[in-house]
Amino acid sequence: VEKIVFDCDPGSDDSIAILETFAHPDKLEVLGMTSVGGNQILSNVTRNLQHILWFLKQQTPIASGQAQPIIKNLHNASEFHGTNGLAGPTFPPEADAYPIQSHNAITFLHNILSKSIEPITVVATAPLTNIALLLKVFPEDRTKIKRFVIMGGALKTGNVTPNAEFNFYVDPDAAHIVLASGIETVLCGLDVTNQTAIADNEITALANKGPASQLAYEILVPYAAAELKHHTLALAPIHDLTTISYLLKPELFSGQKLALQVNTTWSDQRGAITINADPAALTNVLVLDQVKRAEVIKLLVTSLEYLDQQLS
Ligand code: BDR
Ligand code: CA
Repeated sequence: VEKIVFDCDPGSDDSIAILETFAHPDKLEVLGMTSVGGNQILSNVTRNLQHILWFLKQQTPIASGQAQPIIKNLHNASEFHGTNGLAGPTFPPEADAYPIQSHNAITFLHNILSKSIEPITVVATAPLTNIALLLKVFPEDRTKIKRFVIMGGALKTGNVTPNAEFNFYVDPDAAHIVLASGIETVLCGLDVTNQTAIADNEITALANKGPASQLAYEILVPYAAAELKHHTLALAPIHDLTTISYLLKPELFSGQKLALQVNTTWSDQRGAITINADPAALTNVLVLDQVKRAEVIKLLVTSLEYLDQQLS
């Protein structure tokens, strides 16, 4: 069992990734989850996290984190995830009561890491503000981090600017701190997450199968419509799901170990990533670039079926 902490901004694709995470208690043990301002303001993404964990009948401890990126102001993504950050499903009032253990994600993560004997995998599917500040405030926690598995960045084409991906665009300074830490990292950037995509008929097939499949259906219908409207893609990418699919089945992916730099200049390149060609540079980042798409969707479908059985 791989022990993980999971930092997110749910977010439609974050929510699908969270569902899949909890369908594999034999493989992933979630020690804690944290929220960060990103797709929507912090209060919205934190509430969405509460709702998903309530739905899953979980007792995983959660904390809310940073509302704003380290330097600039939050740029959100309402056009993709709705004005509440999770368009589609509705939850009963009791879902709001899912307990928030702390409003300081940084000390919350520090407490988990410092208590653990074995190093922990840090999954991040949002701007890296919480994680970068954790590294700055508690540098001693570095030895407790086994690796990062991050959704962010793009080597080829961005989705906010021509070169920058959303999570890295929102907080490039945080992305720089995390990638420059030297800690082993698996980077799920747009180069691979644009391929981690779902077709309309695959979304439709989730309807009325069971509670978790139905929830995924309700999340994916408006999300896919927005993705296809705003981008010229054939299928709707479930970006954040890539991190969990990789943890569960790394054999479905391929990539290259590279030294990466994040552009933090105030230019049209802000938030873009580039390869550091210096032969002395540390190649600590495995940048994924290929995925067996159909297998990833199959894994999602069977994960949701498992949850359907557990929850009904
Ligand atoms: C990333 O940006 C967010 O909108 C998604 O949740 C994902 O983490 C994709 O660029
Ligand atoms: Ca996200």
